[in-house]
Amino acid sequence: MIPGESEDLMVGFETSDDAAVYRLGEFAVLLTVDFFTPMVDDPYDFGRITAANALSDVYAMGGRPLTAMNLLAMPCSLPAEITARVLQGGADKVREAGAVIVGGHTIDDKEPKYGLSVMGICDPDKVVRNVGARVGDVLVLTKRLGVGILNTALKKGLETEESLAVVIESMAHLNRAASEAMVEVGVNAGTDITGFGLIGHAREMALGSGLAIEIDLAGVPMWPGVLEYSADGVKPGRTADVLAFLEPHVTWGPAGDDWRGVLADPQTSGGLLMAVSPERADALLAALAARGEEASVVGRAVAGEPGTITVI
Ligand code: CO
Ligand code: CO
Repeated sequence: MIPGESEDLMVGFETSDDAAVYRLGEFAVLLTVDFFTPMVDDPYDFGRITAANALSDVYAMGGRPLTAMNLLAMPCSLPAEITARVLQGGADKVREAGAVIVGGHTIDDKEPKYGLSVMGICDPDKVVRNVGARVGDVLVLTKRLGVGILNTALKKGLETEESLAVVIESMAHLNRAASEAMVEVGVNAGTDITGFGLIGHAREMALGSGLAIEIDLAGVPMWPGVLEYSADGVKPGRTADVLAFLEPHVTWGPAGDDWRGVLADPQTSGGLLMAVSPERADALLAALAARGEEASVVGRAVAGEPGTITVI
């Protein structure tokens, strides 16, 4: 056994899965940590978006979050009420998820950061991984894309927190119901869309599953205005890095610079991307709709060079 490895470690970090999975008796324990610098000015929204994002890695693997620990870095010059609002936002989201905050740690730091380390559980036979997709699988995505672009527009003063209220709600929205639908129907692979955009997370799924993925632009859901902002160069700095990294693996087809910016847009607390067998795709869409979750078919898994993406 390699030092640091364990027979009970079911999933480590080799496939860039959303959480580590450790077998403990009859349970699979899911362990994950995530933190952010503020993406919005409102401290309460910052707290709840960060918590929704951290909890999402447990949901992406089909688990149920149980506990969370706060990680907080704040300048000591910042009024205590601001810090309290951040923590309140996080606590409210964790409570909504049916989990409980059990502790944490705070340090003094010039740039504010907040995050959570979340523990959840799952039936060991029902852990959803970001690998395991099969040729022919239908790819279903919840939540619209473009929040990285819109957060950039917000920072540039092109949008306001009022004009983006519905987008902020989407970032703060738990992937809980989507995860429950995913577990109920049964999928072959699943992950949440975060810093590498749709195309980056699809690439990880394709690579780990040993197949290729086709993304169909006609099905890709996004917020109004996103394609136009992308065409105007309003996008996070990170997008260029994601595109450079993915370039050798993607055939862009009809996707020009505007679409590439959307497909590679880093999402803050994005939705779930699920690979479901074609026979179960309608059942998955129905289970999501029954829970009020927006969902779109964005492509499918196809035979081909593992880890490659073709946009059609
Ligand atoms: Co994730
Ligand atoms: Co994460």
